[in-house]
Amino acid sequence: MNKTILTAMNEQIMHELYSAYLYLAMSAHFESASLPGFANWMRIQAAEEQEHAMKFFDHIHDRGGKVTLMAIAQPPAEFGTPKEVIEQVLEHEQKVTALIHHIYGLAVKEGDYASQVFLNWFVSEQVEEEKNATTILDTIKLIGDKSNAIFQLDHKLGKRDED
Ligand SMILES: [Fe+2]
Ligand SMILES: [Fe+2]
Repeated sequence: MNKTILTAMNEQIMHELYSAYLYLAMSAHFESASLPGFANWMRIQAAEEQEHAMKFFDHIHDRGGKVTLMAIAQPPAEFGTPKEVIEQVLEHEQKVTALIHHIYGLAVKEGDYASQVFLNWFVSEQVEEEKNATTILDTIKLIGDKSNAIFQLDHKLGKRDED
């Protein structure tokens, strides 16, 4: 496996695990804020991010590379309103999209076709991730801070049981 791509993928494992950590922190925030539906949505999101990390973990091994785990940064403990939190989710996903595109660019440059095929799934997944955050954000913008409407959205998000 090309060394530059291997390094980028090892870093991506860390970024995906940080995503999981960030979303778990957001889930904890919503639990404390008595919004169990939002907490549920973030918890499922966190679990998905762990799966993303494992996809890179497996791909590296499948290609005969060596996984080197890096330190994961501490996520914030304090978050704002539901709108502010979902804004941060969208912003974070946009950053991850840029990281995926960067690795894809490396795979193209190095003629690593297997990695391009592998990364195709992530390119599509990031479209989905940004869309999901945008949809929730649009709903919050529509309903505003009215507690009754937030309560109803919380109920809806509580029904998420998979991606
Ligand atoms: Fe991810
Ligand atoms: Fe994500």
